[in-house]
Parts: sequence; structure tokens; C-alpha cells
Amino acid sequence: LFPPFRASYLGAGAVIGTNAVIHMVIAQGVALGFLGFLGLADLYALRYGGNAVAEWERLLKRLLTFGTVVTTVAGAVTGAGIWFTIGALSPRATASMLRIFFWPWFAEWLVFVVEVVAILLLYGAWDWLFRWRWLRIALAFAYAGYSVLSAILITGIIGFMLTSGKWPGDERLVTAFFNPSFLPQLLSRLALAGVAGSIIALGIVALPGPDAQVRRAIARPFGAALLICIAVLIPALAWYLLVVPDFYTTRKVFAVLTQHSAQRPSVFYLGNLVAGLIAVALAVAALARRTRAVAWLSIPALLAVVGFIAEFERIREFIRGPYLMPGHMYASEVLMAERFLFEKQGMLPDDYWYQRLHPNADLNQAGAQLFNNNCAICHTAEGINDIRKRVAGRTQDGLEVLLDRTHELVSFMPPFSGDSLERRVTARFLYRLGQRRVDMQSHSRVVVAKGAPP
Ligand code: HEC
Repeated sequence: LFPPFRASYLGAGAVIGTNAVIHMVIAQGVALGFLGFLGLADLYALRYGGNAVAEWERLLKRLLTFGTVVTTVAGAVTGAGIWFTIGALSPRATASMLRIFFWPWFAEWLVFVVEVVAILLLYGAWDWLFRWRWLRIALAFAYAGYSVLSAILITGIIGFMLTSGKWPGDERLVTAFFNPSFLPQLLSRLALAGVAGSIIALGIVALPGPDAQVRRAIARPFGAALLICIAVLIPALAWYLLVVPDFYTTRKVFAVLTQHSAQRPSVFYLGNLVAGLIAVALAVAALARRTRAVAWLSIPALLAVVGFIAEFERIREFIRGPYLMPGHMYASEVLMAERFLFEKQGMLPDDYWYQRLHPNADLNQAGAQLFNNNCAICHTAEGINDIRKRVAGRTQDGLEVLLDRTHELVSFMPPFSGDSLERRVTARFLYRLGQRRVDMQSHSRVVVAKGAPP
């Protein structure tokens, strides 16, 4: 096990998820979708010559500048942020994923470098490449091709974390990568990227400026692109939901609305329907070249697509509980194969960092460590999904029984890993935590229990 680290108040899920969703909006919406259309826009502009050339160049440059700045700055920062957050808060899962998918990750890194070079080259040499227009268009298409390759590589890995398929049987990389949800999820992501990319493009095209003629002209192809991508997205999502086991997909409403309002699933379906209708309305306005309507609709459409990307990722992350990787690793980062060993021999004796850092640990510290190893990836002790609220009103004995049945109590909680003595120590700690007789703090690498002596 790795030295434990907790994200106070927010918890691991919210920290990793918030950064990841921002990254997906940028990577999928801007880098893949929006910039993916650049070559097509340049191709479209070829139809217009004469006086309009300068105006087209100005508009295309505006699109390119926005895309380049956002991807190379915010995209790269949040991308590195994914590695920081998962490395600190979910180190075993990260290590496991890097081992199973070593070569796809390595390839993805190379592809990413090529993408960045291509976009910087385009940006730096855009005006100069005007003389070799076809070369410029080819470079933009090559960039789009590499972005799709990136999406393919990453979706294979992310898909595995939801549907590991036959991999736990044969443990072959090919089986893991081409898992059951790989293709439908890839198609959904590409279509969603196109939806987001064309909405962002329409938002920029609608911004006031001197080049009103060309902005009107280009609204139509972006409107068509938006409509086509919506038409692909809907069946792709249906296919994706069909491939993922029912055991997971039935929780999609809960994942978005949380327990409070999951009783009213109509809110979920209605929200998605309204978002879809706004996007369709924007596409229709763009096809009709109504720039004023496009300007007004692009703002709610942008909010809708950002919300949809967040929902897409949230559902994927949430519904797969109690697993981080089905058939391989629990959400608590305990390998399924290890669990029975922990049940027999206990978890703490082999916990390297615990043994090194707390040679004279008391029962509080042991309980804090067991809570941390089993529950802290989803529960905090002061903020989101607060464990103190969850255990309130329960007795210590009741908690001990509960710890034997966490997976039966709430279907997305993993079973407790540890022997019966450790279960008792954890129940004692949770009880005292609920009573506020003991507290927990994260000090860089160590979780320290504070409070009344045992
Ligand atoms: C995979 C994430 C995850 C892990 C790991 C996890 N929980 Fe939970 N737990 C949840 C969620 C989600 C809920 C339900 C929240 C809700 O209903 O809104 C929950 C609810 C609970 C509840 C209240 C259940 C009820 O019906 O009253 C208790 C008690 C609880 N957890 C204890 C624990 C303990 C103890 C551990 C560690 C041994 C643990 N959980 C590990 C996600 C998790």
C-alpha cells in the first residue's frame, strides 16, 4: 500500500472529478471537436475569393488563436492535473492502470507531442502557409487525425475501467483495450466532441466584429456539423448504455441527482431533453444563418453541452462502484484477489507505511488507517459524503455488523477488507468519530488520528 493521503472536505472523487471534467471540456470540446473542424473551415473558405479573402483569413485566425491558446495552456495544465490528482489520491489504481496499459500510454504520450507540435506549427506559420493553402489544410487534417488517435488510445483505457470484459480471465492487453464499451464509448465521445466543437465555434462566430459577411456564411456549415453530430450521438449513447451491464446503468439517475432527488427521475430525463432541444434549436438557427438567434442560443447551448460532458463523466465514474476496475480492483483500491488474504491475516500487518510511520500506534490511529484504506476514497470526515453523518445514531456494535455488510447496505460500496479484529477497531473508531471524540488530519503523507486517548 502507498502512504495514505486524504483530500479534506472535498474528498478524492470531487477533486479528481472537477479537474477531469474541465479537462474533458477542453480536450474533447476544444482540442478534438473545435480544432478538428479547422481544416474543414479552411476548405470551406476556399469557395470564397476576391474581396472576402482577407475577411476569411481574419475569421479563421480568430478561431485558430482561441483553440491554440485554450488547448496548449488550459488543456495541458488540467491534463497534468489529472496525473497529479489521481497519483496523490488514487495511487494504487494509477499504478495498476499504468502497468496494464503501459504501451497505450506510451503511444498516447507520443501522439500528444505530435498534436502539440502540429497545432503550434499551424499557429506560427498560418499566414505564411497561405501561399501553400493545400499544405495548410492537410496539416489541419493531420492534426485532427492525431486528435482522434488520442481519443482512441484514451477511450480503450477508460472503457476498461467500466467494462473489463474477459480481461480478468486472460489478462491480455488486447482483451483489456478492446473491451465491450470501447467502440460505443469512442463513437459517443467523438460525436460529443463534434457537438461541443460546433457549439463553441458558433459562439465565436456570433461574436460581433467587422467581418459580418463571412461570419454569416460560415454559420451554415457549423450548423450542419452540429446537427450531424447530434444525430450520431443519440444512437451512440443508446449503444453505450446497452453494452454496459444493467447492474451499473440503472444507477445513472442516482449518479446525477444524488439520493435526495433520485426519486424523481423525470427531472433527469427532462433536463437532458431540454439540453438536446437547445442544441437542435441552435443548429437550426445556424442553418438559417440567423446570426442574432445564433448569438443568443449559443450561450445556453454552451452551458448545456458543458453540463452534458460533466454528466457523461460523472455517470461513468459513479455507476461502476464498488469497483475501480471491475474484476480486478475495488473502489477502495484493494485488489479483489487480496481481499480474502486481508480477511484472514488482517490489513495492517502488511501495510508498509503504517508500520514505518506509526510504530507505536494506538487504537485510534489503527482505526483511522483502516478507515482511510477502506472508506476514504468516497467518504470524508468533514465534508462531502461525510462519514460522521452516515454513522450518526448507530452503536459501536451496530457499526461492527455494518462493516461486515457494507456491500449489501449500499450496492456501490466495496466489502470491508480486514480481519474481524480490524473490523472491531474500525467500528470503534467510526463510533468515536461520530461522537467527535476523535478526529483525523492529513499531514502531507500521513493521516493522523487526534483526540481522546483510547
Ligand atoms: C465506492 C465509494 C464508497 C466506499 C469505498 C465506501 N462508501 Fe459508504 N457510501 C457510499 C455512498 C455513495 C453512499 C450513499 C450515499 C447516499 O445514499 O447518498 C454510502 C453510504 C454509507 C453509509 C450510510 C448507509 C445507509 O444506508 O445509512 C454508511 C454507514 C457508510 N457508507 C459507511 C461506509 C464505510 C464504513 C466504508 C468503509 C468501510 C464505506 N462506507 C466505503 C460510497 C462509498
